[in-house]
This record gives sequence, structure tokens and C-alpha cells, in this order.
Amino acid sequence: MKTVLVEGVRIAFHDVGQGLPLLLLHGFPLTSESFRPQLEGLSRRHRIIAPDHRGFGQSGGGESGPTEMSRIARDALAVLDSLEVRRAVVGGVSMGGYAAMALLREDAGRVAGLVLIDTQAGPDDEAGKARREDTAQAVMEKGVGLLVESMLPRLVAVDAPASVKAEVEQIIRSNRPEGCAAALRGMALRADGMDMLARFAGPALVLVGEKDVITPRARAEEMAKVMHGAKLAEVPGAGHLSNLESPGPVNAAIDGFLAGIKL
Ligand code: MLT
Repeated sequence: MKTVLVEGVRIAFHDVGQGLPLLLLHGFPLTSESFRPQLEGLSRRHRIIAPDHRGFGQSGGGESGPTEMSRIARDALAVLDSLEVRRAVVGGVSMGGYAAMALLREDAGRVAGLVLIDTQAGPDDEAGKARREDTAQAVMEKGVGLLVESMLPRLVAVDAPASVKAEVEQIIRSNRPEGCAAALRGMALRADGMDMLARFAGPALVLVGEKDVITPRARAEEMAKVMHGAKLAEVPGAGHLSNLESPGPVNAAIDGFLAGIKL
């Protein structure tokens, strides 16, 4: 992985392939390794740039304070700066989608297209914020194994292959409690992204796993509805991590989408 220092914090990222740059922002509590099928499958024709958010994977930081979605967005923009990439298609899975919407708020001029996968625009309600704080405290006390127990059954479809479940578990266990707690607190603070989506004039693709129970199809429809000309596609049989569970259809949909984009 390459690295860049952003205000003293080391941000690690994959940069593979050549062609149209696609920045991929991972979900919670994962790392850029969750884009393995996209790094492998899409980099034959495109340039895939996938950072570990601060506090996750091989990136540093995340020990103090909430990791707000705008912070993740600015780190990602610094990664693009370090590569002298002015404009990219920006894709995000779940929390990565929240960060993609924050990136639009930071600098929409750098976004040549949007790929929103198993995510939603709305913020947490009060009960949701309280749950995030409870989970943040529990993770600090008991470690990331708690997230495997509480989240893994909802992250992937019940009937997802054992190999996918094992891969997701291994990725979660590679994270640090501090980074996860900071991101939970950051997600609780996020703004409603619907205004940014409504203002976005570029091309957009919205993907959702048929069996996603965390951000179900209705959330995807809300986002697609406010974006002029957005394409919505359901990924048959997949849960919340459709890019890992059903990489074939997801990669094909992204590939087709990228084919129509000019920087
Ligand atoms: C994710 O997959 O990033 C999380 O489930 C998002 C969330 O907890 O809102």
C-alpha cells in the first residue's frame, strides 16, 4: 500500500490499475480490503484508489475524538492530491457512502460521478445516536470481537458463503477499538446528505443488495429519486456488503457505469 501524511496522520491506500480513477471508500467496521473483488476485477480497465480511513486497517490516527465523515472525505481528497488526481468517480459502501456525500460537500468539483452502494442519505435519529455511543463504549471495553458478534450477522445475507463471512470477520478483527469507536461517534454526527445529492449534477449509480437489512432498497430509492438521471440496480441475493458478496454483478454494473464517464 502507498501512504500519505495528512496533518500528521498516515493514511494508507491502494492505487492499482490505470485509466479513469475510481476512489472507493469503505464501510464500517471494515478496511479497504473489503474492496478486494473491485481491486482485482476492475483495475484491468480503471485506476482504483482505495484508502483505509483513519483509525482503520493500516492507516494511523483515530484515537482521539469522533472521526467525522468530513474528516474521512478530506483525507480521501488528500490521497487524490498526493497522486495529482484532480477529478475521480467517487464510490462508497455504507459509511463510505456517508463519506462520499461529505466529500461532495467539501468539493463537489472533484467528483466526476457517484457510485453509492448499500448506503443511505439520512442521518441518525436520537435513538440511533445513543446506540452508537453505547456501542463505542462497549467496543472500547470489550474489543472489536463485539462488532463481529453484533454486526456480522446483519452485514451479509444469512445464506452468504462461509468464505465471505470468514473474510468479513478477519477484516473486522484487523481493526482497532479506538478507530472503530471514533468512527461510530463520527457517524452519529453526520449531516443529512440528501441536499448534496439533489445538487449533484453528474452521473450516479446506486446499488443495493436485495437482502440488505441495514440500508434496504427503500433507502436506495430515496437517494436515486433526488439525483437527476441516477441509475438504481438491485444486486440479487446479496446483503449489505453486496460488493463482496456478489462481486460479479457489482463489478459489471460499475464497469458499465464508468464506460459512459468522461473526466
Ligand atoms: C456500514 O456498513 O458502514 C455501517 O453499517 C453503516 C452504519 O452503521 O450506519
